[in-house]
Amino acid sequence: MDALNDLLLPPAKSTLAHQTDTLFWFVHLSSLVLTIGLIAVIVYFVIKYRRKSEDEVTPLITHNNKLEVTWSVIPLIMVLIVFGWGYQVFIDQRVAPEDSYEVNVTAQKWLWQFSYENGARTTGELHVPAGRPIKLIMNSNDVIHSFYVPDYRIKQDVLPGRYTEVWFNAPEPGESIIFCTEYCGTAHSDMTANVIVHEPNEFKKWLADNAGGGSAPEDMEPAEWGEQLAQEYACTTCHSTDGTQLTGPTWQGVFDSEETLTDGSTVTVDENYLRESILEPSAKVVDGYPDVMNTYQGQLNDEQINAIIEYIKTLN
Ligand code: CUA
Repeated sequence: MDALNDLLLPPAKSTLAHQTDTLFWFVHLSSLVLTIGLIAVIVYFVIKYRRKSEDEVTPLITHNNKLEVTWSVIPLIMVLIVFGWGYQVFIDQRVAPEDSYEVNVTAQKWLWQFSYENGARTTGELHVPAGRPIKLIMNSNDVIHSFYVPDYRIKQDVLPGRYTEVWFNAPEPGESIIFCTEYCGTAHSDMTANVIVHEPNEFKKWLADNAGGGSAPEDMEPAEWGEQLAQEYACTTCHSTDGTQLTGPTWQGVFDSEETLTDGSTVTVDENYLRESILEPSAKVVDGYPDVMNTYQGQLNDEQINAIIEYIKTLN
C-alpha cells in the first residue's frame, strides 16, 4: 500500500493523512475487484450461453431467491462499512483537539493572509510548529475560496461573512503547498501559499521575531516608533512619561539612573536592564514597586524592544 501511495498520491505529511488514504484505497480497490469480477462473469456467460443451434430455446427462469439475497446483502454490507468508516474519518478530521494552536486565515482575491496570537501577520506563508495540532479559523474578504493542502488531505471552503475551521498536525518540519480550489476569478490558479512547518523552538523564535507586525514603518525614527509601540502595548498605562507616579516606575529620567532593587542590590538602568525588564519583569524589580508586570516575550521582537528603549532614552 505504501508503494502505491508513493506512486499515485502526494506525500502524506499530516498525522491523519494515512487514515484518508487507507479509506481511499479500500473504496477504490474494492470497486476495482467488483468491476473486474463483473466483467469476467459477463464474458463467461456470453460464451457459455451463446446460441449454439437454430432451434434452441432458452429456459425461462423467473427468479432465484438465494442469488438475489446474496447480491443485495453483500453490497449493502460494503456500503455500510464505507459509511461507518468514512463517518469516523470525517469526525476525526473535523473536530480539532482541545490544545490546538490557533491561526486566523483570511482569504481574498487572490492571496492568503495569516495572523497569529501575538499580532504577527504573514501573507502567502503559513508558519506553524511541528507536532502540534493547528486549528485554522478562516474567513474571506470577498468571494468563496477553498483552502486545500493535498499533503495533509484537508480541504475546506472559506466563506465571506462566516467562519469555517479546519485542523491538521504535521509531525515533521518541512514545506507544503496550499491551493485555492474554489474558482474565484482571474488569478484563481495563482492563489497558492506555503505551509512552513518549523521545529517548535524555531517556531517560537520566528513568532517572537515577527510579533506585532514586525518592523518600523518607513519614515519613522526608532524613538518615535517606540512611543507608538509603548501606547499600542499599553506600557504607558503603568509607566508614566512625565514623572507621575503610576503602578510602575516612571520612564522620565529613568535611563542611566541608579535604582535599588527589592533584594537591596543596586542596578544601573541601561539598555540591558530595560531589555531584561521587558522580557523578564520579575527578575529585577525596583524596590517599592509591585511585581505585577507580565512578560512581553513573544509579543515584542528585538527591533521593537530597541525602539521602546530609544524612546525611553529621549525622556531624560
Ligand atoms: Cu481563491 Cu480560487
